[in-house]
Amino acid sequence: MLCTSLVRNLFISINRRQYHRTHPRILITGGCGQLGVPLAKRLREQYGVENVVLSDIVRPSDELLKQGIYRYADVMDIKQVQELLVNNQIDWLIHLSALLSAIGEKDVPLAMKLNIEGTHHILELARKYKCKLFIPSTIGAFGPESPRNPTPDFCIQRPRTIYGVSKVHTELLGEYFYHRFGVDFRCLRFPGVISADTKPGGGTTDYAIEIFHDALKSNAYRCYLRGDTRLPMMWVDDCIQSIVSIMEAPSEQLKQRTYNVAAMSFTPDELTKAIQKYKPNFKISYEIDDRQKIADSWPQVFDDQNARQHWNWSPKVDLDGLVQRMFSYLERQ
Ligand SMILES: NC(=O)c1ccc[n+]([C@@H]2O[C@H](COP(=O)([O-])OP(=O)(O)OC[C@H]3O[C@@H](n4cnc5c(N)ncnc54)[C@H](O)[C@@H]3O)[C@@H](O)[C@H]2O)c1
Repeated sequence: MLCTSLVRNLFISINRRQYHRTHPRILITGGCGQLGVPLAKRLREQYGVENVVLSDIVRPSDELLKQGIYRYADVMDIKQVQELLVNNQIDWLIHLSALLSAIGEKDVPLAMKLNIEGTHHILELARKYKCKLFIPSTIGAFGPESPRNPTPDFCIQRPRTIYGVSKVHTELLGEYFYHRFGVDFRCLRFPGVISADTKPGGGTTDYAIEIFHDALKSNAYRCYLRGDTRLPMMWVDDCIQSIVSIMEAPSEQLKQRTYNVAAMSFTPDELTKAIQKYKPNFKISYEIDDRQKIADSWPQVFDDQNARQHWNWSPKVDLDGLVQRMFSYLERQ
């Protein structure tokens, strides 16, 4: 009897170890935001519901709770994240908590605390517990002196927002931790990410999501950016795929630790024309605010040839595909 139970426990333990080796255990911070929700869904499909822990400081919806493990964790308190890492034997740490560009400018001290001090905590924990670490950067990590069309991976970076400054800090410190301590840091600079089922978090590219909601509600949209403001954008599924691809890429394939990823670039005028193919009477008007200054300092077209060459990055959705997907998702809701 004792012998059977010993053998069974041994089998369970071996199976668990094998399972653990092929399926990373993943912690996502700031996971209730625009990117965290679809990313958790995708990672749970790929690696198993029980292997993905979503964390944030907000109360999750019932829907989100049904999808898998949720834990409260404030990244400003290193012990809360540490406890989750230890208790859940985390292998991959995906750090999404941040204040985005437009709201960062409204509360600079909080942006510094969250985007800079919070990132210090995450880097230190990744070093201590040998986690593979992903932290996204942004087109906002470039500034007015950077080449804007196209913007390559390596060029002058002098952003003028606290968001951009904090992201350059993340890129450099992450790369330093890679070279100095061997932390497997991976970072992608995202353009504006467009999605239908989660709200944008207060960035300068949010207009490209709001415009669809207003098109359906009132067939009109008042845009806070000039009609000719060209910015790089990406459909959410492509963004999520880029995270999975870079996390799965063998280390030796990565010739750098921070990559631009791009999919398309358009202006509010061009987006309006694409929307008018579905809604011919849709009208746009303009009331420019502070976000114009931010957009004017950002890349217009992102050069992502290194990502394409090194780990086969290839987006699937173009402007027409994005408009078609937004309307079909929103009309179903
Ligand atoms: N969405 C985009 O278009 C875009 C573009 C480029 C880069 N990014 C980057 O991707 C990441 C995720 O962006 P997002 O759009 O999902 O942002 P979001 O604003 O939608 O989500 C951020 C989440 O962080 C959480 N958070 C705030 N303070 C926290 C704290 N103290 N501890 C733990 N969590 C906290 C918020 O509650 C929120 O759910 C960010 O790092 C952002 O810079 C996003």
